[in-house]
Amino acid sequence: MSENSAAPIKKALSRNVMLPAQDMALLGQTSQPILTHADGIYVYADDGRRLIDGPAGMWCAQVGYGRREIVDAIAHQAMVLPYASPWYMATSPAARLAARIAELTPGDLNRIFFTTGGSTAVDSALRFSEFYNNVQGRPQKKRIIVRYDGYHGSTALAAACTGRTGNWPNFDIADERISFLSSPNPRHAGNRTQEAFLDDLVQEFEDRIEALGPDTIAAFLAEPVLASGGVIIPPKGYHARFKAICEAHDILYISDEVVTAFGRCGEWFASESVFDVVPDIITFAKGVTSGYVPLGGMAISEKVLERVSGDKAGGSYFTNGYTYTNQPVACAAALANIELMEREDVVVRARAMAPYFAQALASLRDLPGVAETRSVGLMGCVQCLLDPTRADGNADDKAFTLEIDNRCFELGLIVRPLGDLCVLSPPLIITREQIDDMVAIMRRAISEVGAAHGLHARVPAAV
Ligand SMILES: Cc1ncc(COP(=O)(O)O)c(C=O)c1O
Repeated sequence: MSENSAAPIKKALSRNVMLPAQDMALLGQTSQPILTHADGIYVYADDGRRLIDGPAGMWCAQVGYGRREIVDAIAHQAMVLPYASPWYMATSPAARLAARIAELTPGDLNRIFFTTGGSTAVDSALRFSEFYNNVQGRPQKKRIIVRYDGYHGSTALAAACTGRTGNWPNFDIADERISFLSSPNPRHAGNRTQEAFLDDLVQEFEDRIEALGPDTIAAFLAEPVLASGGVIIPPKGYHARFKAICEAHDILYISDEVVTAFGRCGEWFASESVFDVVPDIITFAKGVTSGYVPLGGMAISEKVLERVSGDKAGGSYFTNGYTYTNQPVACAAALANIELMEREDVVVRARAMAPYFAQALASLRDLPGVAETRSVGLMGCVQCLLDPTRADGNADDKAFTLEIDNRCFELGLIVRPLGDLCVLSPPLIITREQIDDMVAIMRRAISEVGAAHGLHARVPAAV
């Protein structure tokens, strides 16, 4: 029986597999499509159907599938040295990868700590902020400021920082150290201008700092673009103004670039190049290996490290680490991925493709049911609302959007369903023709589902 035979896979899924965000009422009954292989921007289902991978896996398949160079690097490293303890031994892949990433990060973020993925990268950055203040004799400076709609992962601390309130029920994640600010979603401006909306967000941050006391706040943790919270692109100037406030109060600015780095926004890292801010710490994962194997990490500023190292260390150890910190196979995969991206100018091409992608999404705005399209680099979304004047979708809008996503799937396109958003963040190697294919499927799906809901294309008035 082939490894892809449906029956044993379905049996194991029903008996043995627990999924992320598992709907517990349907434990053992969830029927996910089974994928067998992939190539370029396409994945293939076990019924032989080819699907465009609209979300690039989970925002991670930057260079697409079937890239021999990465596979060879993984196989080679697994053969010569699959593992070494990062506590006692150094290896070439981790050292070379750290040096390479340090060349790509902004400012003096030259010290790299590798983790197993995005959540552990965020967790490590937050634990560093704790350590940083304890070593400096400021044990009360511990609070973490985050935003509603932010997503930072699934370890306990990263999950506690997640402002997607839908993730909260039945988890005891309330942590008195964590304080939530408003989502910087431009659609929440109401009748304010974007400038006035930004002023209010800044004021809220300043008021919160004053209320809590700056000497109790360790860090501000923020994604440059709130990805899983809804591809939310904050108003222009937001990041720089928040960074200036952090500097004024000696608060670490942690930029969570787990999604936005490695070309997703048209730059290696988005913080400075796209959003004008040099953070104190950047977390990354996903695109660093294009999803071939798990890896994450954080880059820390030298200036920040100077305050807790050398003769300022006071005998301290940063006792945070993982069995798979500096994992040689993962680091070799990341090096091969980065080399491939450089050789093929993947980041430059993604930047050049961004306006075409934005226009292609915008071409859907004539369809009834499409409230908005937005994108930065090659991460974008189509917001589908039965009533486009609403800022956020209600349960009916979410059901409507899910129908659209399902219809896209039937027509050969995977779309990440995210409430009232159809999220598209394709592999960065996508061509114009493939973007056209993606958008043509979306057009058909939105039109058909819209018509079934009584939404009909606006017909020009008869003359
Ligand atoms: C911004 C952000 N941070 C952290 C994470 C957690 O990463 P991981 O799922 O690799 O642990 C994610 C995952 O989607 C993310 O989007």
